[in-house]
Amino acid sequence: MNTQIAFERIKGYIHGYIQECKNDEVITLYSHLSYGKMLRSKLLLAISDISDDALRVCALIEMIQSASLLHDDVIDDATIRRGTPSINATFGNKNAIMLGDVLYSKAFYELSVLDVELAKSVSSAVVRLSVGEIEDVSLSKQFHTNREAYVRMCADKTAALIVAAAECGAILKGLNKHIYRIYGENLGIAFQIIDDILDITQDALTLGKPSMSDFKEGKTTLPYMDLYECLDDEQKEILASYCGKKISSEQEIWIKTQMQEHNIIHKSVACAHLYANRALEAIAFENNDKLSDIITQMLNRSF
Ligand code: FPP
Ligand code: MG
Repeated sequence: MNTQIAFERIKGYIHGYIQECKNDEVITLYSHLSYGKMLRSKLLLAISDISDDALRVCALIEMIQSASLLHDDVIDDATIRRGTPSINATFGNKNAIMLGDVLYSKAFYELSVLDVELAKSVSSAVVRLSVGEIEDVSLSKQFHTNREAYVRMCADKTAALIVAAAECGAILKGLNKHIYRIYGENLGIAFQIIDDILDITQDALTLGKPSMSDFKEGKTTLPYMDLYECLDDEQKEILASYCGKKISSEQEIWIKTQMQEHNIIHKSVACAHLYANRALEAIAFENNDKLSDIITQMLNRSF
């Protein structure tokens, strides 16, 4: 079975789970959700064989991923998700939160009938990603330069569910799950750093959301920390004062010009490569080219 057919089957499972909720409003709200790249499913299926159980776990992980983004868009006051109006923007915060709750709790119910090791892997990841979102909100209160806290937040918020996808793949295939956890953790951190870079380098059309929205939301991502280090005191103050504000296009241009002058994107990309290499080292003897391809695609993506 090729990946595209597998993805359609995963979507079929999710559709079936939603129908089982037997509520027209849930079905309507769900129909407005769009799928992303399904990276977690791709990863799980690159590790395990494509079986009924593997596709079900993928469906549950994708449902949890969608639930977390529904909640995240409420928390971030986002109006656009994947190029279309977000559920909270169209149907209000209450509906977005409740649809997230339905997806999340239905996924957990279905998880409880699967192997306990799989259930433990996914449920502990959800604890971590929720903690990661709390860390993100807390770090977004003001400009900061705490790299350690930033990486921890990326690991919790983004890598946790990627770790679970890799670990579940390893459990289903009977492989050493420790190796795949390390791979997933480092892939996830690199993925978030690249995401944070694209938020600056790509335009709104490519991103499906306004450019530099992280910084406008108060998030000090890696490129801003890298830039801060290169600025003089006066410039440092200017940069910090823009964080979390609705900055003008002139102010946006000032930040981007400073980044160009100090070769910041190159520095931040190098940091993403560092984590990507750690992921590659972890699976060096696993004889699975699909896992190195996933790293290459993740590093070279444009959205
Ligand atoms: C996107 O971050 C957000 C996440 C990766 C995780 C969000 C997690 C929660 C809200 C907890 C959810 C809890 C349950 C129980 C499902 P981002 O804002 O940096 O990315 P974005 O630009 O795509 O919005
Ligand atoms: Mg967000």
